[in-house]
Amino acid sequence: MTEAHGSDGYDIDWWPLLSDLEFLEHPYPELRRLQKLGSVHLDKASGIYFVLGHRAFAKISKSTGMGRDTRKWIGGWTSDDYRLQDPTGYRLFSEFQWQMINCDGEDHKRMRKVYEPAFRSQAMSSMVPLIEQQTRILLDAMPERGEVDFIEAFAGPLPLRVLCKLFDIPESLDGQIGQWSASLIRIGDILMTPEQKTEALQALNDFKNFLREQIAMRKDSDEDNLMGMAIKACKDGTLDEEETLTNLVSMLVAGHETTVTLIGNGMLLLLREPDQMARLRSDMNLMRTAVEEFMRMEPGGNMILRIALEDFEVEGTCIPKGAPVIGLVGAINRDPERFSDPDTLDIGRSANAQFTFGGGKHFCIGAPLARLEAQLAFSAVLEKYGTIELAGAPEWRLDRMNARGLGRLPVRLERT
Ligand code: HEM
Repeated sequence: MTEAHGSDGYDIDWWPLLSDLEFLEHPYPELRRLQKLGSVHLDKASGIYFVLGHRAFAKISKSTGMGRDTRKWIGGWTSDDYRLQDPTGYRLFSEFQWQMINCDGEDHKRMRKVYEPAFRSQAMSSMVPLIEQQTRILLDAMPERGEVDFIEAFAGPLPLRVLCKLFDIPESLDGQIGQWSASLIRIGDILMTPEQKTEALQALNDFKNFLREQIAMRKDSDEDNLMGMAIKACKDGTLDEEETLTNLVSMLVAGHETTVTLIGNGMLLLLREPDQMARLRSDMNLMRTAVEEFMRMEPGGNMILRIALEDFEVEGTCIPKGAPVIGLVGAINRDPERFSDPDTLDIGRSANAQFTFGGGKHFCIGAPLARLEAQLAFSAVLEKYGTIELAGAPEWRLDRMNARGLGRLPVRLERT
């Protein structure tokens, strides 16, 4: 772990630190130590401001002085400097630009409005039978007793199946969609190699071509699902073709691995705290707060980006216009100034102001779906299996810094 003390305080080599294997495996003690040094840090090498404090991030994520349009990032992914330095990365980010998360103001509002109806409470209620059915299919394929990898058998396939149903994409294409999504989820991670950028660019183009064909085939079908909403918005001119395709790709990618991670990480937290698992079993009404607590303790997505749209003051630091800001969610969600016993899993924790879904205008549009899916998934698993225990060492994927999820979670199961 790299740190040098400069005359003006602390010079921390952030990128080597954040990509350090030991840090990726056990990030929380180090994040706490850095948080004690300050809630906002400038990485002098990259010009990025890292935010570790809850109060600071609450202000940053919700303010109109901060945006998400990466074109406003001076020297950032869509700048001429970056084009010369990394042409493949530049093409990748430029071709992934036209989606709600990379826009602010009216453009953001226009795009988000198209998809919002799919995540309202009525739409969510109608998703319950579908999620329950997909959960049951996966659980029926798992043994009555024995050992399985929980990620492979359950947490991995469920979110993709639900998403594809939401888009009405046939099950036979799950594997292909999963591959494209895996190549694209790393976008923005500085650990991405040139080969991975080339692969992601190919995946983006193949994915867009696939969706273009789907839209052409289904353009007169008047479907009442996410794809139908996109087709209608494209036909009536609310979205142009590029915006329609990029937002669809983004949603399939954003909703996939994040939810796998929520279910996998949540299960590991319960396995490590059998008292909390027993508490949940004895009062399933705690499921809602339990899922919030899983997200607080192990958020999965580690980094939330903002760009300063004006000179911005926070906690005594002035962030200049055009500078990038990254919220480190693993630190923010465990800030002792905001949460009592922040390192303790408390599935009944009330007023859990975790930031795993971000905040402000870009707050995750798919949060209601992810929450519902996790609540139904945990209810069904705990109901089927009276015994769930760790059957070996869990394996974190250590090849990325912007997401913390398990590659393998061996469990021993026994039916109730
Ligand atoms: C546990 C699961 C999930 C997590 C942890 C998660 C996390 C996030 C985060 C951190 C953001 C950025 C918020 C910000 O900048 O303030 C975001 C935005 C977004 N998410 Fe999610 N997400 C999840 C599931 C989903 C699902 C299921 C979908 C869709 C099916 C989805 C679609 C999106 C979209 C489209 C945005 C951009 C919203 C905007 O810019 O207005 N996410 N998500």
